[in-house]
Amino acid sequence: MKVTVVGAGAVGASCAEYIAIKNFASEVVLLDIKEGYAEGKAMDLMQTASLNGFDTKITGSTSDYSKTAKSDICVITSGIPRKPGMTREELIGINAGIVKTVSSDLIKHSPDTIIIVVSNPMDTMTYLVHKTTGLPKNRIIGMGGALDSARFKYRLAEALEAPISDIDGMVLGGHSDTGMVPLTRLATRNSVPVSEFISEERLSQVLEDTKVGGATLTKLLGTSAWYAPGAAVSGLVQAIACDQKKMFPCSVLLEGEYGLNDLCIGAPVILGRNGIEKIVEIDLNDAEKAHMKQSAEGVSKTNALLEL
Ligand SMILES: NC(=O)c1ccc[n+]([C@@H]2O[C@H](COP(=O)([O-])OP(=O)(O)OC[C@H]3O[C@@H](n4cnc5c(N)ncnc54)[C@H](O)[C@@H]3O)[C@@H](O)[C@H]2O)c1
Repeated sequence: MKVTVVGAGAVGASCAEYIAIKNFASEVVLLDIKEGYAEGKAMDLMQTASLNGFDTKITGSTSDYSKTAKSDICVITSGIPRKPGMTREELIGINAGIVKTVSSDLIKHSPDTIIIVVSNPMDTMTYLVHKTTGLPKNRIIGMGGALDSARFKYRLAEALEAPISDIDGMVLGGHSDTGMVPLTRLATRNSVPVSEFISEERLSQVLEDTKVGGATLTKLLGTSAWYAPGAAVSGLVQAIACDQKKMFPCSVLLEGEYGLNDLCIGAPVILGRNGIEKIVEIDLNDAEKAHMKQSAEGVSKTNALLEL
């Protein structure tokens, strides 16, 4: 199992670290445009191998895509992150150019690869990878919902004063401050609806805190977060590499599912060795359907800014 991670910055390096620590991949290649940067991160990470007990070989490359050849999975984290006060959508100008070139370069050397898109605005970048590469839809996956769901569970556990392992919940829709659709109705503590434990008002607060989860961290850190994003990506990579058939909300090209067409947006999918093995259509109520539709309108508006 060979995994390439393009962008050896905060998210890319964190992702490589979590993949290595989980010890399921034989090789991780980090690639960056900054001279020596990926090589340096790879060497630093390799020097944690004896300490953390993993055998994954991590190597670095400055823009040499031949080193990424025959990757089973490629993760795209290259591009600029947002600064405090910025929306993810504002990154489109610079990141679209980067993601377009990177995805073309990747498939030249790994035509059978599965691509996981992380760079923001993620749903639009995932759509761009579809348009650029023409790969089948099961092989292009956008990571956003897995992270947003982890943040949702964190906020729910906090509100319920419960351990996170007791909590289950999922966030669908666009990966943006206004587009997220946290499914509060279906969130549970050990199968009991969370609404049994906290007031409607507290639940609305959880919902709002989840939606601005990324912005809250960007304000605190001065740039966007990396530990949870890296961990979320490593979870998707592991589900594919180990053919786990696990369900995650991921950005996926919809063709009629949820009444939506011609865009990539967060929906539950089953991940296995073929990438997206299935899109799961859950029964949403009218309010949730309306929320998904509104979220999709936002994503489509950003997609319209792409020069395809
Ligand atoms: N989808 C999500 O849930 C999620 C979460 C966090 C961050 N992000 C996004 O991920 C991206 C990376 O964030 P970060 O915090 O790691 O940023 P960062 O600045 O720390 O790292 C980005 C790296 O990309 C490299 N890069 C730029 N252009 C390149 C190119 N053409 N080829 C190869 N490498 C190139 C840079 O040199 C840099 O090292 C941002 O767009 C950010 O918004 C997405």
